[in-house]
Amino acid sequence: LDSPQDTNVKLLKICQVLDKEISYYNWTGFYFKNGDKDELALGPYVGAVTDHVIIPYGKGICGQVAISGETFVVPDVHAQDNYLSCSIDTKAEIVVPIFKDGENIGQIDIDSHSIDPFTKEDEELLNWLCDEVAKIL
Ligand code: SME
Repeated sequence: LDSPQDTNVKLLKICQVLDKEISYYNWTGFYFKNGDKDELALGPYVGAVTDHVIIPYGKGICGQVAISGETFVVPDVHAQDNYLSCSIDTKAEIVVPIFKDGENIGQIDIDSHSIDPFTKEDEELLNWLCDEVAKIL
């Protein structure tokens, strides 16, 4: 069984590969449920340092996905009321939940500096990836 450190190294590598291979992925990271609290804690990521290390359930795009358990594609972040800004460069965002044993335990969050860059292919890739990630958690 992997130690938490091994798992975090793998998660960071996933972020690095996505960041390198997909030009419009400009902040790529994981958030996970913080113990038994109704909040998310920042996990491994690649991109600008973010103030959003802890996100209460319901707050921002990430906090909404923590409750809904559904992928949230935001073509234009400026059109969102319940949005937590990480960087002024961010124009779009996609958040895909991670389910383990039927429970919504975290998510991958990707910000883009392009407007409306995310396609069905991104959703499919990230859904597949989240299923794979669940297996190593
Ligand atoms: N934009 C997110 C917060 C996380 S940062 O983008 C890394 C949100 O609205 O939940």
